[in-house]
Amino acid sequence: MKIVTIGGGPAALYFGILVKQADSGHEVTILERNRLEDTFGFGVVFSDATQNNLAAADPATYAAMASHFAHWDNIDIHYRGHVITSSGHGFSGLSRQALLGVLGRRCKELGVCIEVGTEVPDPEVYTDADLVVGADGFNSTVRERYARHFQPSVDERPNRFVWLGTTRPFPAFTFYFKRDKHGLWRVHAYQYEPGRSTFIVEATEATWRKAGLDKATEHQTVEFCETLFKEELQGHRLLKNRSLWRNFVTVRNAAWSHGNVVLVGDAAHTAHFSVGSGTKLAIEDAIALAGALRRHPDVRTALTEYEAERRPAVESLQRAAQVSLQWFEDTERYMSLEPPQFAFNLLTRSLRITHDNLKVRDPKFVESIDEWYADKAFIQANAARHTPHVPPPMFTPFKLRDLVLSNRVVVSPMCQYVAEDGMPNEWHLVHLGSRAIGGAGLVFSEMTDVSREGRISPGCTGMYKPEHVTAWKRIVDFVHVNSGAKIAMQLGHAGRKASTQRMWEGMDEPLKGGNWPIISASPLPYFPYSQVPKEMTRADMDEVKYDFVHAAQMSNDAGFDLLELHFAHGYLLASFISPLTNQRTDAYGGSLENRMRFPLEVFDAVRGAWPHHKPMSVRISAVDWAPGGMQPADSVEVARLLKQHECDITDVSAGQTVAEAKPQYGRQYQTPFADRIRHEVGIATMAVGNISSYQDVNTILAAGRADLCVLARAHLWDPYWTRHAAYEQGYPLVWPDPYATLNRYKPRL
Ligand SMILES: Cc1cc2nc3c(=O)[nH]c(=O)nc-3n(C[C@H](O)[C@H](O)[C@H](O)COP(=O)(O)OP(=O)(O)OC[C@H]3O[C@@H](n4cnc5c(N)ncnc54)[C@H](O)[C@@H]3O)c2cc1C
Ligand SMILES: Cc1cc2nc3c(=O)[nH]c(=O)nc-3n(C[C@H](O)[C@H](O)[C@H](O)COP(=O)(O)O)c2cc1C
Repeated sequence: MKIVTIGGGPAALYFGILVKQADSGHEVTILERNRLEDTFGFGVVFSDATQNNLAAADPATYAAMASHFAHWDNIDIHYRGHVITSSGHGFSGLSRQALLGVLGRRCKELGVCIEVGTEVPDPEVYTDADLVVGADGFNSTVRERYARHFQPSVDERPNRFVWLGTTRPFPAFTFYFKRDKHGLWRVHAYQYEPGRSTFIVEATEATWRKAGLDKATEHQTVEFCETLFKEELQGHRLLKNRSLWRNFVTVRNAAWSHGNVVLVGDAAHTAHFSVGSGTKLAIEDAIALAGALRRHPDVRTALTEYEAERRPAVESLQRAAQVSLQWFEDTERYMSLEPPQFAFNLLTRSLRITHDNLKVRDPKFVESIDEWYADKAFIQANAARHTPHVPPPMFTPFKLRDLVLSNRVVVSPMCQYVAEDGMPNEWHLVHLGSRAIGGAGLVFSEMTDVSREGRISPGCTGMYKPEHVTAWKRIVDFVHVNSGAKIAMQLGHAGRKASTQRMWEGMDEPLKGGNWPIISASPLPYFPYSQVPKEMTRADMDEVKYDFVHAAQMSNDAGFDLLELHFAHGYLLASFISPLTNQRTDAYGGSLENRMRFPLEVFDAVRGAWPHHKPMSVRISAVDWAPGGMQPADSVEVARLLKQHECDITDVSAGQTVAEAKPQYGRQYQTPFADRIRHEVGIATMAVGNISSYQDVNTILAAGRADLCVLARAHLWDPYWTRHAAYEQGYPLVWPDPYATLNRYKPRL
């Protein structure tokens, strides 16, 4: 087979080695515009896990690479005068030059032809080869030439960074967070060979400009950074090598091959340097492509298989890299965290490392975090610790006004659609009662409507007639008498989403018969064929406000511990907040301040009626996932207003505002909004949305991304979710008396 590879970086060279090894009859030519030793950058990093893959792919090349490795286990985080060390991370570095040297020599041994000094302006001239490999890096000519087929997307990030080197040997992967008069500087530094380290300096665009670095030459950049990091460099110099300030660019392609042309490495995808994986991804692509060609002589089949194998792994890493790069864009947000939490937050930023993974890597580090977290929590809750165990973060108490929750797991509000005229019944007693026995610290009622007309469906619960108080009180009393859980009421009005079918009949679909008139901020139907709501008049607002106050008083009579108002998911109060559903031209429409006017009026009225010692929360949709809708920055302002109005905690959900929304689902997909609000507003938050493992809960809490974790479907699946999590973590959660025998029982599942 005749193979032409454009570009001679790690992807091309490694691929050349593997295909030539597989079949020495292949004719492989690598066209590289520079000399191999004219390389940019300094060191490259491989985790221990990646090294195992390399060793398996080609032991001889791996052995040659390994002879250059500088290995480290620790990550040192320098923050506000502290150094926090976490160990067990297992990485090795080597210089890019050494790597290219090893790969280049191995290519030559095997008979791969490397033509240096050959710039390829148009790859089309090589397409008479059996295969053309576009390994020409993130500015790929091959990708651009066939852009119509590859459909690349290029996301240029706002932060500025520069790759520098230094002679200072860092014993650990080292992060510095240093402020000067211009702003905050981040440094990512690691040793890649004895006496040589990579030293990447990163800052926001504003900080970088303030320091005048937009006009700096390479030499001036080095001078500036040497002065700024004089103490950290300990007398060592910084080294430059095409050390220009750049913006990181995330490259993605809808397709990685076209005909007999294929992309590998940075040409196909990039991942932020903070996850240290550009070279690793490039080499893993080479391994997969060579493997696919070995298995399939037909090039098209091989290219399809290559992409099928690599794309999921690459996209998963790109997702982690995206969260990681955003963390470095937003680092200013975390600068008030105490050192242990800052370190934990940094280490767990990409969701790839959890509380549990870290425990395996460095049990002492996690112990110290748990100890720190528990100390804070018990002080905050003014509670006594009854066990000698240091509880995992999820089993620490949390206090809001006079309410003390025994742990930080919350059963999310979940409509059951089995009430009649708003009356909760046996189903609700068993449903909520069993979840309270299941160990959560707080159990929410489903969205309970403040009027008959405010119900989503005919099956929704309500709090609008005296019999409702009695029925709810039975459930509340059961929870209080038989469990350690507290119970919260979520009050809402469905607005334009009222008068619809039960979830399993057709979510948000209008009733087929028996509809009732509906109201909203503006007369906009949810689906084009939905009922058109009446635009609320001031008199309607007064009526709704009265209903909320009345329902709050009844909720107090029923004994609920916490009251939540539903400002989310496109229901009535949310319809005022989102510009997509509020087109009013009066004092309740237009600016965010205006759009918040009525919801806040309701909040204030309810707060006045709800006992002062009991807390209130508000559920919001932090983002509408639709053009022109609420953005995370808007919800920060919403939370700020709520805080000013003495809301105790924000329950941060998202979406469901408009039918055409395109949510970006994923693990913990809404937690970043809770995190942002918590830090930027300084209000307590509940995180919700695809949180399903206790590792996630502990990680979110210990990192300070939220104060409480709210789980919905996980609790439908397993009412005893919290008890199971306690069991798995060896945490003693005592059973209620009738089940006392279980305190010594070992379940076998
Ligand atoms: C300035 C900089 C510094 C970096 N430093 C590091 C680091 O220290 N550690 C790390 O892990 N990663 C680093 N990276 C990222 C890392 O280099 C890449 O992720 C990795 O090298 C990707 O490998 P590749 O083979 O796909 O592409 P590359 O290594 O980029 O190789 C592409 C090659 O193609 C050649 N080429 C491009 N166009 C043509 C053409 N038209 N004709 C002929 N040849 C062409 C280029 O000269 C280059 O040698 C750095 C990236 C940049 C931009
Ligand atoms: C059956 C069901 C009913 C729901 N009802 C409500 C509700 O009454 N009020 C509310 O705010 N959210 C409601 N939600 C949304 C959940 O509270 C939660 O925000 C969402 O399911 C995401 O969490 P999860 O990934 O843990 O399931 C409901 C979700 C489900 C699955």
